Amino acid sequence: MTTTKGLEGVVATQSSVSSIIDDQLTYVGYRIDDLAENSSFEEVVYLLWNLKLPTKSELDTFKAELASNMELPEAVIDHLRSYDLSTVHPMAALRTAVSILGLYDEESDVMEEAANKRKALRLQAKIATIVTAFARIRQGKEPVKPKKDLGFAANFLYMLNGEEAKDVEVEAINKALVLHADHELNASTFTARVCVATLSDIYSGVTAAIGALKGPLHGGANERVMKMLTDIGEEENAIPHIKEKIANKEKIMGMGHRVYKNGDPRAKHLKRMSKELTKTSGQSKWYNMSVKIEDFIKEEKGLPANVDFYSASVYHSLGIDHDLFTPIFATSRVSGWLAHILEQYDNNRLIRPRAEYVGPKTQDYKPIEDR
Ligand SMILES: CC(C)(COP(=O)(O)OP(=O)(O)OC[C@H]1O[C@@H](n2cnc3c(N)ncnc32)[C@H](O)[C@@H]1OP(=O)(O)O)[C@@H](O)C(=O)NCCC(=O)NCCS
Repeated sequence: MTTTKGLEGVVATQSSVSSIIDDQLTYVGYRIDDLAENSSFEEVVYLLWNLKLPTKSELDTFKAELASNMELPEAVIDHLRSYDLSTVHPMAALRTAVSILGLYDEESDVMEEAANKRKALRLQAKIATIVTAFARIRQGKEPVKPKKDLGFAANFLYMLNGEEAKDVEVEAINKALVLHADHELNASTFTARVCVATLSDIYSGVTAAIGALKGPLHGGANERVMKMLTDIGEEENAIPHIKEKIANKEKIMGMGHRVYKNGDPRAKHLKRMSKELTKTSGQSKWYNMSVKIEDFIKEEKGLPANVDFYSASVYHSLGIDHDLFTPIFATSRVSGWLAHILEQYDNNRLIRPRAEYVGPKTQDYKPIEDR
């Protein structure tokens, strides 16, 4: 038996959803650069679930179905109100609320393919509403119901802020959602696949995946990037701060990647957006500081910036609370989780690796009074 720590380099499944080959990311063979420049998030979700781009009428129908499934059961909103709003992290609230949502879906445990597709649509639609409803409730505001005539990104910002966002803001969120939608067998997607490979239900798979995304080595990194930038405060403090972290053997959040060694192809899009949006909002220092850190870490440690690094200053410049950064990641990545869950069901085998036992050799049991 050979042990591969962190399963690095282990190919655990076949998939047709997305690929990372030679540092290039594609969804169903379409380059991430083309999708980021041209696609709506809904088009990407359709692509991931159907493995083909939609026609105009298919996309119109899909958008309408998503928009009309966004409202939450009142019971789920009541649950959100019942949390300790001063301490609960929005990712913990989201993880719990998705699990609760499963209790109110009559088809939760119906495992036919058509039912699973209907549940995927309902869950994708409602996750944006959970994130925004929780964000408003903890500010003492009423949740805002989605508008059927708005697209997914526009509805997200509308439900968050209670007013329709500017086109430039909607475009930024749409692009961020497209860039985060899927990423081969990342930790949370693997978690989702392991969970449903026991033939457990979709809500269990997504709840487990949210738990995995929440960690700082995965989706939780974007919130911590902004914490690092605000701790640094001013551009001139950036390099001394980073040097100190390196000396203390601390990880620099938003840097490094298990698979990409020469650069994360999503980062350049977010870097461009960060430059533009921080300039427009008069907060270029976050972008300038980020560039300094990126260049220094590249030079010093040979590590590239990942998707989380510039997304932090993008969301910050849109006025979004820092602890909502990872829930936004989840709002997008649920599309990839669901694509992988459907693929797993379609050709399932239990995922059950082995562990190399390194504990004590077989020991004789002593009765408690003799120990
Ligand atoms: C993404 C990540 C978890 C990948 O981890 P991994 O493939 O297991 O790589 P390791 O943690 O084993 O790192 C390999 C080496 O690079 C260093 N390294 C990796 N990422 C680093 C970072 N962000 N800051 C400082 N050093 C880092 C490690 O210390 C290690 O050095 P060593 O060999 O001298 O001990 C890791 O790069 C990381 O923790 N990044 C910060 C968190 C983050 O941004 N996560 C979001 C990922 S999209």
